Formats: sequence, structure tokens, C-alpha cells
Amino acid sequence: MKPIQIGLLGFGTVGSGVAKVLARNAEEIGRRAGRAIEVKRVGVRNIAKARAAAPAAVVEGIAFGDNMHALVDDPDIDIICELIGGTTLALDLVLRAIENGKHVVTANKALLATHGNEIFAAAQRRGVMVTFEAAVAGGIPIIKALREGLTANRIEWIAGIINGTSNFILTEMREKGAAFGDVLAQAQKLGYAEADPTFDIGGHDAAHKLTILAALAFGIPMQFDKAYLEGIATLTQEDIAYAEQLGYRIKLLGITKRKPNGIELRVHPTLVPAKRIIANVEGVMNAVVVQGDVVGQTLYSGRGAGSEPTASAVVADLVDVTRLLTADPEHRVPHLAFQPDRLSDLPILPIEEVETSYYLRLRAHDRPGVMADITRILADLSISIDAMMQKEPDEGEQIVDIIILTHVAKERSVDTAIQLIEGMPTIAGNVTKLRLENLDK
Ligand code: NDP
Ligand code: HSE
Repeated sequence: MKPIQIGLLGFGTVGSGVAKVLARNAEEIGRRAGRAIEVKRVGVRNIAKARAAAPAAVVEGIAFGDNMHALVDDPDIDIICELIGGTTLALDLVLRAIENGKHVVTANKALLATHGNEIFAAAQRRGVMVTFEAAVAGGIPIIKALREGLTANRIEWIAGIINGTSNFILTEMREKGAAFGDVLAQAQKLGYAEADPTFDIGGHDAAHKLTILAALAFGIPMQFDKAYLEGIATLTQEDIAYAEQLGYRIKLLGITKRKPNGIELRVHPTLVPAKRIIANVEGVMNAVVVQGDVVGQTLYSGRGAGSEPTASAVVADLVDVTRLLTADPEHRVPHLAFQPDRLSDLPILPIEEVETSYYLRLRAHDRPGVMADITRILADLSISIDAMMQKEPDEGEQIVDIIILTHVAKERSVDTAIQLIEGMPTIAGNVTKLRLENLDK
């Protein structure tokens, strides 16, 4: 049978990885797909740089060019693989490929989180597949698990470490006391970071991925603009250390939960009990916990970024599309797990409506009655204290660190309490607030 012809848009960290994996495992992949899968054309800006990104044996026979539109218009290409990133040219090329009746495989979470509704609607109209396993959690087959393996379940919540760069940074800071900037530079060198790394450390990349997971889990449209996001740049070594003393690790988590009045969709640094497996997922590794009503909790873990782990997911999609080419479009697995005419309009809840536990760190003058005032403020707002720790003041210092862990409370009440506490004359500076998730049920 004629090999499936792939057009690769982009030949950087991921694109070159895809070509290498397709070449190295060609025989095994062909046996699985039922047909050979070959890269016919590659589109980039810098052709010489792209040719040098893979061994001669891999690039031999591939036509490299810089006319991206000509590539997506090539009638001999069966599947367009979009691996350039960004949301402008990528959107244009993906929509054009779909209009040309081509199937699309993409690793571009930013594109799907912000333009996914339009892209999937176009694909549905044209009867083509748009697959995106690599867009969330690198090499972990979490899209397949949510879209197919867990279909019996009403998904209750998902919590995940879904940005490899920030997990790598947090790990190096905690284990080696490394400086933030140095570790970020290392992550960039290793090919983990986005073209603009503020997407990684600011939580945007994790929020893009969480938006996709929430759509698959709850059958809602992509709503990245309603996600709450907070990154890791303002985390301090002292909060990391205090969390450790209290039996917690701080991870940048993406959390989405079904609540009676809507869906929580939030990314922020989170204290997680150190005994949980996810708290011990370190470096570039990602992990996603899914709570389903039938199966209970399942955990998926693996490398979340980098050339070949991501290529593993892209190639899995290429095989899937190859296998399904002859299937009637009506009987394919829906792009976003739910039938497109059966989406739910559950609202995304604003962060003030979120309910979780909290870590509060405040600096107080070491005087009688301070603790009583703080606990009164919390009690008046029905915020119950789970644990409290007061540090010894440094020699000659009159100000002490007080750390409070709360039971589950509403974010709005906690913010009001913080305002009142910050207004106390015995409190110095601002209160640090971090969210805490037990992830037990
Ligand atoms: P790279 O920067 O390494 O590669 C990007 C490639 O796209 C390069 O070959 C570049 O060509 C080409 N390109 C970019 N802009 C243009 C343009 N305007 N015209 C033509 N070619 C262009 O990125 P990655 O491989 O790391 O990422 C690609 C996609 O995969 C992104 O969407 C990213 O979010 C996603 N992803 C990345 C992961 C990773 O670990 N790196 C993991 C999961 C997803 P040139 O060099 O000539 O400019
Ligand atoms: N920049 C991303 C990360 C790449 O660090 O997780 C994988 O999506």
C-alpha cells in the first residue's frame, strides 16, 4: 500500500524528533499502522539550520522549503503536522490544511486553547481529524485516556503537573537551592521551554493545557480566557522550606473541578501532601491525576517535554490517523471526547468562588494577643484552622513568621480575612497566600 505522506510544519525540537523517531522505528510503526508513514516535505524559515537538526540518513529524501502555504496545498500530502507554535501563522495554516481536506496533527496547546472551538468546528464540517496528544503533558497519553479509556466515567476533577519547565525549576530550587534564572536557562537549553519562556513560568502554558483537559473531561468548549493563572516567579525559598517542614511540597498544578454551580479552572503554585505520588514527581516529569466516579483515582506520569518524549505522542497521533483514514467520519472518536452537538454550558467559576485549603504566611510583632486577634478574624469568617506554626524570632528581631494552614474555605472569605489581618497594627507587610490541595477524593 502507498505510504502515508506527512508534511511537517516546523523542524525544531519536536519536528526533528518526529522525523528521527519515524526513521528509527519505521518498521515497528508500519506494522502497527498498517502502512508506512513517511515525511515528504518540511516547512521552516531557515532551511540549512533544519537540515542540520537531524542526521543525514533521516533528512535524506525529504524536501525542505520555506513556503508553508505551498506545503499545506500539496495534493500529495495526507497529514499536516503543525509544529511551529504560536497562534497566527499556525492558525492560518491549520485552517487552510483543513479546508484542503487534510488531517492535522498538532502539539500546539496555545493554538487549541485559544482557537480550538473554531478549528474543531471546521474539522467537523470538512470531515477531517485534528489530533493533539502531544499538546498536553508531552509523552503521556492523557488525551487518549480521557477521550477513550475513561468514557464510562463522570469526571469529577483533574489535577496535574503539566508544565515540565516549571517543575524542573521548582525541583532544582528545592533540591539544590539553585537560582531561578540559572535553572530556566538550563531548561531552555534542554528544549523544554516555550519560545517565550514567560508562558512556562507565568502559568500560561499550563493553563492552555488545562483548558484542553477541562474540555475533554466535562464536554465544555475551550475557555482559556476564563482560566485563573498564577505562575512560580514569586515563590520564595522560605515558603518552599516552610511547606516542607509542614509535610508538603509546592508544585505548579493545573486543577479543574466540577462543582454544582460550575467548573473551577485554575493554575497556581499548590501545596500537596509530601506523601502523595504527585508530590514526588520531579524535574521535567509531568503527572496527571484524574478522579472519575466509576474508576476512582488514576495517575498518569511521564516526561512532559523534550524532543523525543513529545515526538512519541505526535507519532502516536500519526498512527491513529493512518488507521482511521478509511473510517466513516461519523463513527470516529469525537475530537473533544463528547459529541460536538452535546456540549454543556456549565460556567467557569471566578477565582473568588473557588473552595480549597490555604497556606498563609504572615509576619507579626511578637506581642501578647496577636495570635488571638488573627484567629478571631478567621473564625468570624468561618475559616477553620488546620495547623499553625510560629517561628522563633531571629536574634534581636521582634518580628516572627506565623504560618497557618486552613481547612477548605471560600477564596472570597480568605481574601477578606487577609485584608483584615494586613490592617492589624501588629502585622508587618503583606500576607503570603498559597493554595493547598489534599487530592484525597
Ligand atoms: P522550536 O522553536 O524548537 O521549533 C519551531 C520550528 O518551527 C522551527 O523549525 C522553526 O523554523 C519553525 N517556525 C517557527 N515559526 C515559523 C514561521 N513563522 N515560518 C516558518 N517556520 C517557522 O519549537 P518546539 O519544537 O519546541 O515546539 C513546537 C510546538 O510544539 C510548539 O507549539 C510547542 O508549544 C509544542 N510543544 C513543544 C514541546 C517541547 O518540549 N519543546 C512539548 C510539547 C509541545 P526556523 O528555526 O527556521 O525559524
Ligand atoms: N514548555 C512546555 C513545558 C513544553 O515545559 O512543559 C511541553 O508542553
